[in-house]
Amino acid sequence: MKKSLSLSKVYRLLEPGPVVLVTTAGKGKADIMAMSWHMMIEFEPPLVGCVISNRNHSFSLVKATRECVINIPTVELAAQVVGCGNTSGRRVDKFNTFGLTPVAGSLVKAPLIHECYANLECKVVDTKMVATYNLFILEVLKAWIDPSKKHPRTIHHCGKGVFMVAGRTITLPSKMK
Ligand SMILES: Cc1cc2nc3c(=O)[nH]c(=O)nc-3n(C[C@H](O)[C@H](O)[C@H](O)COP(=O)(O)O)c2cc1C
Repeated sequence: MKKSLSLSKVYRLLEPGPVVLVTTAGKGKADIMAMSWHMMIEFEPPLVGCVISNRNHSFSLVKATRECVINIPTVELAAQVVGCGNTSGRRVDKFNTFGLTPVAGSLVKAPLIHECYANLECKVVDTKMVATYNLFILEVLKAWIDPSKKHPRTIHHCGKGVFMVAGRTITLPSKMK
């Protein structure tokens, strides 16, 4: 028998791809936030929709600079991800606090996180839904990947501090890209 699920918990069923770390550059100070509410919108140029709450310091920085980096961590960085998701750049220098290494990007001022296996340099291309949903549409301008990580064990948020760790992969015939 199935049971009714509280609507407040629906997000836990649909929580999408890997938890990522979004980096932004303020005036001389960079910030990092954890983000799991993102979705692909277009193959090429790659467009990504991201919900960044207006309570977050990162919101002001993305809005002001119109750019950021989406850094994709693997399970080894889980503690740092949770740390970045539970502190604010208004009070904490997260690169120092969580022992992460900033690396200069090629097209944006926001830093890449060296320890993450992939880094996507992005610019904001559409803010029409920011006022209503805190939803930014980003275009990925440049993508970096660590080729040594063939099966990166990304983490996927199930809510309340519970994460699934990416595991077995299977390959099936598909017409999809
Ligand atoms: C696993 C996880 C996922 C999160 N996903 C989001 C998200 O998708 N959007 C969002 O606005 N905040 C999300 N947060 C919360 C922010 O990361 C958090 O509010 C952070 O403190 C913001 O930092 P800032 O004030 O330095 O920008 C998430 C936190 C965690 C731990």
